[in-house]
Order: sequence, then C-alpha cells, then structure tokens
Amino acid sequence: MQDLDEFTVTDETVRQMAGTDNPRLKEIADAAVRHLHAFAREVNLTPAEWIQGIRFMTAVGHACTPLRQEFILLSDVLGLSAVVNALHDKKAKELGSQSSLLGPFFREGVEVTPMGTQIVEKPTVEEIVVYGKITGNDGSPLANALIQVWQTSERGLYDLQERNGESMDMRGTFRTGPDGIYYFRTVRPLGYSIPMDGPVGEMVMQQKRHGMRPSHIHCLVGAEGYRELVTALYFGDDPFIDSDTVFGVSQSLVVDAHEDPASPVPGLRAVHYDFRLAKATLGESGRVGADPTKLMKAAE
Ligand code: BEZ
Ligand code: FE
Repeated sequence: MQDLDEFTVTDETVRQMAGTDNPRLKEIADAAVRHLHAFAREVNLTPAEWIQGIRFMTAVGHACTPLRQEFILLSDVLGLSAVVNALHDKKAKELGSQSSLLGPFFREGVEVTPMGTQIVEKPTVEEIVVYGKITGNDGSPLANALIQVWQTSERGLYDLQERNGESMDMRGTFRTGPDGIYYFRTVRPLGYSIPMDGPVGEMVMQQKRHGMRPSHIHCLVGAEGYRELVTALYFGDDPFIDSDTVFGVSQSLVVDAHEDPASPVPGLRAVHYDFRLAKATLGESGRVGADPTKLMKAAE
C-alpha cells in the first residue's frame, strides 16, 4: 500500500502520468506538477487558500466571452506572456525585430487596403503617418509582406470596447510591393487601462498597480518563408512607458512622431520603423494569444 506524504506524492503523480504518448506534453505536464507541488509546499498552502485559488480561476473562466479572454489577460499581468515572447525570440535562427504582446484585442479578417489609407474612420485629432520597410535579417526588402495593425482611439479604447464588436475601426492590413515599404495614416493612440472590471482587474487593484499600458500600435508582420512577427510600437513620451502593466515594452520598440522630410505623406508628423523578419523554422507560429472570437469558437 502507498503511504504518501507531501513530498513523495510528487514522484507518484509523475509516475502515474508516465504513459502520456506525446513526449513534449509529458515534459510540460511533469514540470507543471513538480512546480505546482513545490509551490504549495513553499507557501504551506492551506485548504482555505487552495479553494480561494480555485474560486479565482473559476471567476476568470466565467469572465471569458467571445470578445474577452480573461485567461490571456491573467497571463499578461503575471508576466507569463512576456516570458513566452522572450523565449520565442531567443529560439529564432536569426535575429529579427523584437516581439511584444498580441494582447486580447486582435481581430482577424481586416481587409487589405491601399498603402497610405487612414485606418481611423473619423479622426478627431492630428493625423500622423507610420512608415518603414519590411526586410529580412540581411536588410533586403520583402515584397508581398503582410502587415496588420490595430490600436486604440485617441480616447484610449479599442473598437471592441467602443462598438461592442459590431464593426471594426482603427485596424488596417497592408501588403508591400517590391520595395518592402509600408505606410498608413492614423492618429496617436491614447494609453489605456487593461480591462479592470473582472477578476484579473480586481487582483491588479489589490496589488496596488495602476493597470495602465503606454500608448502603442500593435503590428503583426508576416512574409512567405519568414517567422511571423507579433510586436507593437510604443510612444516613448507616454507617462507609463516604464511601468507597463503587462511588460510589453522594450527599448528597441520605442518610437516618436516627428517632422520627417523622408515621410511618404508630407505635412504629417511621422513615426518611422523598419521591421526585420527572421527566416521561419518549420511549423512554428509567433503568436502569443489569438483572436478572442476564434478562441471561443475553437472551444465549442
Ligand atoms: C493590449 O495591448 O491590447 C493589451 C495587452 C495585454 C492586456 C491588455 C491589453
Ligand atoms: Fe494594446
């Protein structure tokens, strides 16, 4: 008969899971069990605390809707998404532009529009232009690269929040020509608070964190044969640039809008950013996150 204690139960659990066919799944599940048990022992977890944790995770699940992924938000505020991004960048076979969070507001299905299109339906503040070149690691321009961008409005809200998902705004998709150049018009987005009206927001408030993200424009950049890049450009003068609640900012992704004689749209202040894509490794994706509407469909 087994006589397990809080230490020996760990090896016995891993032993019972040993039949898992998929070796990578086995590696992940074994490590998850070992770390979970070690965590419970380290903090001397009580039954009341354990059930409180179960209640919290249940609330996180209940807060998920087709337009909201509370688990991704939890991963983001705990720094897990940032860790996964950094590991992913390290695994690339050559250096590309740095990754950043996909976040919960990405939507697929935004149609390609001509270069230079204004992505905001009714801009109420100064227009700016964002432009640059999409190249390989060696600097050669990539033709036919696809760049998808999305951002908040000048009021700091995504279309999913302002329009409840009924129509899209502040999103654009562009395809490069042989010179690899992209450009679009937009307005400077306002930094914003992560959704604070759910269990993750409640946790962030208890931790006395401000919950803010600095102003940014999300970019998803892909080209045949290259690693898909999920990243974002951050405006350096935002008051929250050094304390992003979800740890997405890196120095190499910080930009500003300024007068620029090289801008493809004269008269507008410009943000210039060149993206470098690393060559693809078979069967990998660069995404940390997903279109929330697709996640819910996959679960049905
Ligand atoms: C975003 O940038 O859209 C975002 C990322 C993580 C959590 C909330 C929002
Ligand atoms: Fe965002």
